[in-house]
Amino acid sequence: MTWTSQSFLKWSAERLTQAGIESPRLESEVLLAGGLRASREDLYRDPDRELQEDEIALSKSFVERRFFREPVAYILGRREFWGMEFEVTPDVLVPRWETEILIEQFLQWTRSRSFSEPMQILDMGTGSGNIAIVAAKELPQSRVTAVDISPSALAIAEANAWVHEVADRIRFVEGDLFACDLETPFHAILSNPPYIEEDRKESLMPDVKNYEPGRALFGGPDGLSYYQRILPEAWRHLKENGVLFLEIGNGQVNDVLSLIKNHGGYHEPEVTLDYMGMERVISARKKNQNG
Ligand SMILES: C[S@@+](CC[C@H](N)C(=O)[O-])C[C@H]1O[C@@H](n2cnc3c(N)ncnc32)[C@H](O)[C@@H]1O
Repeated sequence: MTWTSQSFLKWSAERLTQAGIESPRLESEVLLAGGLRASREDLYRDPDRELQEDEIALSKSFVERRFFREPVAYILGRREFWGMEFEVTPDVLVPRWETEILIEQFLQWTRSRSFSEPMQILDMGTGSGNIAIVAAKELPQSRVTAVDISPSALAIAEANAWVHEVADRIRFVEGDLFACDLETPFHAILSNPPYIEEDRKESLMPDVKNYEPGRALFGGPDGLSYYQRILPEAWRHLKENGVLFLEIGNGQVNDVLSLIKNHGGYHEPEVTLDYMGMERVISARKKNQNG
């Protein structure tokens, strides 16, 4: 049987519909474009292009993997974030668009200040390195430290940093949060920590539950354990007036605000909503010693 792009997409969209995928046609196009090493526009330009045996085999294997709910980013080995392409493997969380809000808030803060020395930034729990790399790219004068407990995640992050030509300004450190050699206090600490409640595991989509690394997802029984650990440690590692930027999960805003208030070392925090209107980022400035 001869397959064209068009007939392949029809078959693929039907297969993905059977699997309950929300956007079967769109994902079919993305997977076929990946299998052909082409763009989605190329598929539209030439819908009657005949597919070669090896192209069919590869593209079909992609569709079958997606049928079993493997995330598209792992199938293709890459994901776009902040308009840049990042290598991803099952060792790292697939970067989410919500996390761009964290970076936007951080960059907005940098524009309101001037720095007399290279800005020192910490990305705690770097995963694919997306936050650290965007920060380094957007702020060419900055120095970034990127920490993760997973050596395999750090290897991916470092590879991404080389591709985006910022590896010379990012220090990758393996460690359990702040229990590692951090060298310097920071002007800003950014973190998208694991924040899902452990007992919600079974209710997660199979794409997440069965494929993404558990240690990137779960934040203890109430989802707050990383915030509890990060708040006091970040305070110790921030320069005076330095700011902590945290991504938070749905419904966690009041709990995290209480943790910050109870700590006492930060000014009144600011909360930023994501494009869906959910509270997504909390930023808190460290108080000076004299208040
Ligand atoms: C939610 S993911 C965030 C990844 C990436 N920064 C992003 O925004 O897409 C959390 C990351 O924290 C790392 N992590 C988990 N526990 C950690 C710990 N105790 N110390 C350092 N990193 C940790 C995980 O390996 C994972 O890469």
